[in-house]
Amino acid sequence: MKALLIAGARPNFMKIAPIYREALKHDEVECRIVHTGQHYDYEMSQAFFKDLELPKPDFFLGAGSGSHATQTAKIMMAFEELCQNQKPDLVIVVGDVNSTLACSIVAKKLLIEVAHVEAGLRSFDCTMPEEINRIVTDSISDYFFVTEESGVKNLIREGRPRDKIHFVGNVMIDNLFYQLKNLAHDNGDCFSTFKLKQEKNGYVFLTMHRPSNVDKKENFEEIATALNIIADERPILFPAHPRTRKMMEQFNIKFSSDISLLPPLSFTESLFLWKDATLVMTDSGGLQEETTALGVPCITLRENTERPITIELGTNVLAGNKKESILNAYRESMAKKGKNLSAPPKWDGKASERIWKILSSL
Ligand code: UD1
Repeated sequence: MKALLIAGARPNFMKIAPIYREALKHDEVECRIVHTGQHYDYEMSQAFFKDLELPKPDFFLGAGSGSHATQTAKIMMAFEELCQNQKPDLVIVVGDVNSTLACSIVAKKLLIEVAHVEAGLRSFDCTMPEEINRIVTDSISDYFFVTEESGVKNLIREGRPRDKIHFVGNVMIDNLFYQLKNLAHDNGDCFSTFKLKQEKNGYVFLTMHRPSNVDKKENFEEIATALNIIADERPILFPAHPRTRKMMEQFNIKFSSDISLLPPLSFTESLFLWKDATLVMTDSGGLQEETTALGVPCITLRENTERPITIELGTNVLAGNKKESILNAYRESMAKKGKNLSAPPKWDGKASERIWKILSSL
């Protein structure tokens, strides 16, 4: 079987790493990595390939940034040509970024089968570009690999065939466990944030980049006000996404000196910091899941989540993006410390193994 494994943006890289590693164990599979180039800065892209032990991509499409239509169209045009040359049997897409959408549409129109890893998640909020990407990708995929029960229910409700829906667990967690093991042999003194971690007792780890939080001035200001109040109590470590940096400058957002602004960090350096944080505050999908897996308290700076299991079984609390709701969530989350947690079903580090077992028996 000739498979193309697609990655384009930062959250894709940790998902393809375990899928790729597992593919190498199957002689009958030739799995090649396609990087669409949606993310391109060293810290947003190559750093992750190194860090996650991924080889250089077999194909690089160089799409770059742009409006949604421009970016999606550029990826589609380049990927169509690649598929025509390579003639894969299967295209594997992960997650919900523009690259996921673009490559699944191209493959399907060329009559190539599509497998979607992390299928079925729904925020029911179509103001999120990712929700549109999820719905469209799932409406045309052939195989659905699902991380949590809610995904199975959503896909069945949307009329997807039951026998193509496979609840396999979470490849993000495969990667998390793999990287944690590596980190266990290391005290982290190679990281630039090693000293900072020691100095900032009881710190909060923050990530934030969603358009709904940083592209609207009022929203960004509300969040920044709440963060500055929290920083009076606990230092905050904040690796900032390029989009967030750009909007901070544009809106002249000022953060307290107790908030340490950092460049985007590699996966392992970020893990090195958040695994020992008192609290994680984020608008990322992946961190909601990863904090759940390790039992680290998490506040999500959004009104909704497509990952309800992180609230049912994990530490996740939804905070929205208003000052008072964030401060309330902060207090609630601090009070919940020590809550009895159980790991979501099948988040055991074996999702990629299950995926390839199914794919190689097709
Ligand atoms: C994308 C994903 C989002 C994911 C996020 C993680 C979509 C619709 N969104 O959002 O789901 O959570 O990646 O990072 O696919 N930029 C750089 N260097 C880069 C990449 C981006 O400077 O390497 C800047 C550019 O100004 C660009 C902006 O960031 O315009 C946004 O990048 P883009 O890929 O469009 O969306 P993200 O916000 O990164």
